[in-house]
Amino acid sequence: MIQITFIDHSGKETRLSVPEGTSIMQAAVQNGVEGVIGECGGSAMCATCHCHIEAGFAPKLAPIGDMEEAMLDCAASPLDDRSRLGCQIELTPELDGIVVYLPESQI
Ligand code: FES
Repeated sequence: MIQITFIDHSGKETRLSVPEGTSIMQAAVQNGVEGVIGECGGSAMCATCHCHIEAGFAPKLAPIGDMEEAMLDCAASPLDDRSRLGCQIELTPELDGIVVYLPESQI
């Protein structure tokens, strides 16, 4: 199991333990974490899973893909250098303890 902490726009923390291989989007949606919608089901076609990954985990993430990068431009909230699509990040043991910040809005 992989530990993940979501911190929403108001600062509310939700700590979860999810199976390896779960995406960040799935972890949020399957556990009722508000602030992630995942409208397209994880195919990088909606940007409603936009999130900001804690900087320390950046080197452990798979590089951003062309499709992900293009879709991020459609995100409803401002981007920064920690922005990713949660559906494109699969939780692996290297990401255990990851902290994910959620934007104020996804639509
Ligand atoms: S769930 Fe649609 S882009 Fe991630």
